[in-house]
Amino acid sequence: MKLVLIGCPGAGKGTQAKKLSKHYGIAHISTGDLLREQMKQGTELGKKVSEIMNAGGLVSDEIVSAMLAERIKADDCKNGYILDGYPRNVSQAEGLDAITGPLDKVVCIDVDDNIIVDRMTGRRGCPKCGSMYHIKYNPPKQDGVCDACGEALIQRKDDNEETVSKRIQVYLDETKPLADYYSKVGIIADIDGQQSIDKVFNDIVSALESK
Ligand code: AP5
Ligand code: MG
Repeated sequence: MKLVLIGCPGAGKGTQAKKLSKHYGIAHISTGDLLREQMKQGTELGKKVSEIMNAGGLVSDEIVSAMLAERIKADDCKNGYILDGYPRNVSQAEGLDAITGPLDKVVCIDVDDNIIVDRMTGRRGCPKCGSMYHIKYNPPKQDGVCDACGEALIQRKDDNEETVSKRIQVYLDETKPLADYYSKVGIIADIDGQQSIDKVFNDIVSALESK
C-alpha cells in the first residue's frame, strides 16, 4: 500500500502515520524527520536546510525529492509506505508518480487553524525513539519523560508561535491546493482531524478499506 498524508502543521500526520505503519506493517517516511536527522548529524545538507526549516519555509523540491527517492529504496519499503509531509506543493505531486508509481490513497486530515498553535506549542517528542506526546492531549505518564524508552522529551525548534504562523501560511499557499489536485485524480479521503487520536485513526482505516 502506498499512502500520502496531507494536512496542516499539527494536523496529526506523524501521530497517525506511526499508528498506520504499525497496523499495516508498512514504512513511515516523514520528510521533516529525514531533514531533522540531517540537521542533528550536522551534515552539509543539514546545515543548508536548518535556516529554512527553523523559519518555517519549504526546503527546495530538488533536495527533498532526491532524499525521498533514496529513502524508498530501503528494504522496509518493499510492502509499501506512508508519506508524511510529502508532497508539499503541486510541483512535488506532479513528480511523485515517477518516484513511487501510482498511489493508493491520499488522506487529508482537516483541523481548524485556531487549534494548531495549541497543538504545536504543547507538542513534545522523544529524540531517541521518535514517540510523540502532547502536554494536554496525549501526556506521557511522567512529565517530560518518554513512556517507551525513558529519554528526556524535547520541543522542536520550529514549534514556537511565530514560526507556526509562517508554517500555516505556507501550508495554505502551497500545500492546501493538493486537496483539489488529488480530488481530481479521485484518490482523496477527507478526515476530520479534530476528534480523538483513536477516532481519527479508525476513520482513516475505514476510508482505506472502503471501496
Ligand atoms: P514536518 O516535520 O512535516 O512538519 P509539519 O508539516 O509542519 O507537521 P508537523 O510535524 O508539525 O505536524 P503533524 O501533522 O505531524 O502533527 P503531529 O502528529 O506531530 O516538516 C517540517 C519542515 O520540514 C517544514 O516546515 C519544511 O521546512 C521541511 N519539509 C518537510 N517536508 C518537506 C517537503 N516535502 N518539501 C519541502 N520542505 C519540507 O501532532 C501535533 C501535536 O498534536 C502532537 O503533540 C500530538 O500529540 C497532538 N495531536 C495529534 N493528533 C491529535 C488529536 N487528534 N487530538 C489532540 N491532539 C493531537
Ligand atoms: Mg510531523
